[in-house]
Amino acid sequence: MNFHKKLMMLLLPAGLAAALPSCTSASADNSVDNSLAYCDRQIDRSIHNLTASGSTDYSMQPRNIAPGDTAWACRPACAEEWCSGFWPGILWYDYENTGRKDIAEQADRYTRSLKPIVEAPVFDHDLGFLIFCSYGNGYRLTHNPEYKEVILHAADSLATLFNPAVGTICSWPRNVEMLGGHNTIMDNMINLEMLFWAAKNGGNPYLYDIAVKHAETTMAHQFRPDYTSYHVAVYNPVNGDFIKGCTHQGNADDSMWARGQAWAIYGYTMVYRETKDPRFLDFAQKVTDVYLSRLPADRIPYWDFDVPQADPTPRDVSAACVVASALIELSSYVDEEKGAGYMAEAGKMLTSLKEDKYRSNGKNCSFLMHSTGHHPAGSEIDYSIIYADYYYIEALTRLKHMEKVEPKLVALSKNN
Ligand code: GLY
Repeated sequence: MNFHKKLMMLLLPAGLAAALPSCTSASADNSVDNSLAYCDRQIDRSIHNLTASGSTDYSMQPRNIAPGDTAWACRPACAEEWCSGFWPGILWYDYENTGRKDIAEQADRYTRSLKPIVEAPVFDHDLGFLIFCSYGNGYRLTHNPEYKEVILHAADSLATLFNPAVGTICSWPRNVEMLGGHNTIMDNMINLEMLFWAAKNGGNPYLYDIAVKHAETTMAHQFRPDYTSYHVAVYNPVNGDFIKGCTHQGNADDSMWARGQAWAIYGYTMVYRETKDPRFLDFAQKVTDVYLSRLPADRIPYWDFDVPQADPTPRDVSAACVVASALIELSSYVDEEKGAGYMAEAGKMLTSLKEDKYRSNGKNCSFLMHSTGHHPAGSEIDYSIIYADYYYIEALTRLKHMEKVEPKLVALSKNN
């Protein structure tokens, strides 16, 4: 069986746990296990903090930790809080890696606190992040039919934001007037995964078509000729004409916002997995290669690639985590030489993230520090942020799966 086939067999039902290679020093000394053990310890610290008053409010989800603080600031689980699904997702990954029943219990309770979100009309595109990171991982690991029902319902709700004249989901219905039309943000690529999953797990097959159309339209309009992305694309909602590309969280309309490009890398890699359409694989590599070519030496990006690329510009560790996880998967879809290169890059990123500079260690109970949420708004600059931790533990989990399957690629990537 060839390498690619072995990897595909390891792709689990929710498509979230692509099995993947280990790399460079990230695997050479069992450091994947060490890093996962570190995550498990930090999770215990978090749970201890979250129950400090003697009982846990499962409807309050960890969101961020400001520099100097030690415990999570929590926000209510609701549609307006796009990060509400990441903590349950982290707990599911920890359960996957440790088998701890007490963690599965916590994951289940935090996951269920999101149910009211799908019982209300859809608020925006973030429904995918909210439900697939929580219920999606939960279903992947437990096959609980109640979880499946929630995901299928959420996918149908998300699809109501699709505008066939444009060919994309409207990411922020509340901002149509402010932005001058139907708007689609790059982050929205991630939410297509829930549509793909629903289409092949008993949902309406049309959900697959919506996801593919969204990816095609975004590919056609939301990138500059050098494959860097606009955070936001605005379209005429009636005739579908592309009006403009602009930014919301980046430095400028024509700058490469680090996390926006990270969403593109992750998104097109996932769309290739789900469609096997070579156009998307080619595109995933193009958007990846421009990002890699402009990274600083330690492979952890500053929050935007078109601001001064030196300290004290804040980094965005969350973008590094999203990209590391995506590269581990992407490396399995390309030829061996290119795959080894992508694995080596992922290895360098994960090696940097082990350094005291980026690890929270005893400083707070997250996994990682130095993410940037919304720099132009002055929000969450140089914080620990929950989605950095989510994509970090996902990347490590992918590596762990891969270590069991393809030691040869591990050796190959070490030579890069
Ligand atoms: N989805 C919002 C962000 O990446 O900050």
